[in-house]
Amino acid sequence: MSCDISTTKSGPVRHYLQFNDLSRDECLYLFERARVLKQKFKHYETYHPLHDRTLVLIFEKSSTRTRLSFEAGIYQLGGHAVYMNMRDTQLGRGEPAEDTARIISRMVDLIMIRTFEQSMLQRFAMHSRVPVINGLTNEAHPCQVLTDIFTYIEQRGPIQGKVVTWIGDANNMAHTWADAAQQLGFTLRVSTPPEYRLERARLNISRTDCIEEIEDPSAACADADLVTTDVWTSMGFEAENEVRKQAFAHWTVTPERMARARPNALFMHCLPAHRGEEVSAKVIDGPQSVVWEEAENRLHVQKALMEFLLLGRMAS
Ligand code: CP
Repeated sequence: MSCDISTTKSGPVRHYLQFNDLSRDECLYLFERARVLKQKFKHYETYHPLHDRTLVLIFEKSSTRTRLSFEAGIYQLGGHAVYMNMRDTQLGRGEPAEDTARIISRMVDLIMIRTFEQSMLQRFAMHSRVPVINGLTNEAHPCQVLTDIFTYIEQRGPIQGKVVTWIGDANNMAHTWADAAQQLGFTLRVSTPPEYRLERARLNISRTDCIEEIEDPSAACADADLVTTDVWTSMGFEAENEVRKQAFAHWTVTPERMARARPNALFMHCLPAHRGEEVSAKVIDGPQSVVWEEAENRLHVQKALMEFLLLGRMAS
């Protein structure tokens, strides 16, 4: 089921539910737009294109970066944010996503949802009159990968033709990186324990020649332009924590592995991180790490995304 466009009385509504809901050209526009909005922010320039617009944030899972970057972002664009913890709403007591979407989207201009199942997000978007943004599901984290690629471009230039190595769990981030690899023309090298491999059926891409699977994490880092990872146990899988710690014990991003990547390679982690598990402290706190820039850039990229979904392309 394709759910990236809902049809309402006022015409098609653009959602951002998965990475490929934006074309390559639109991604490149957003990267440039995020750069412009970041400059405005750094110069304390008031810019309120979303004056009086309201964003509702619905969370079914914990968050620091996503909540803050969306809340601060909409305020900085002149709008307002309403935070809703799903368990305090009627959604948490079983009101259908379809009914909730119809109601909320009559009251606000934009909706961000962090939940478990991508299918819930899709059902919600199908019945929303306003754009819905994926703030993380079990299947995808497109705002984060969009930001990570912006961060790479900001630090090193175009990502096309580069090698991005993913070490660890083939989780929502890894699957979203795979979607991005085809869209933006780079290679995603994935190193996971055999029982935690990428699920090709989950990918939203037509070709898989942009994906290389190399089980040995040291070999996977060879000549990489970017090495990235995430926690071994994502939200929702806590019951598997001890089993996962054993399964992933050899999938730490260490200084020795970073040394096999290109000399100017970057390290990224969407955070929160567990030093000594998926990444050594010397790597995440070392000179190749751009994790703090990556976290800050959620603000700038999502401001560009919200502006685009509500107003379309802006003249620079
Ligand atoms: N990376 C990320 O999405 O952070 P939060 O879980 O803190 O929102």
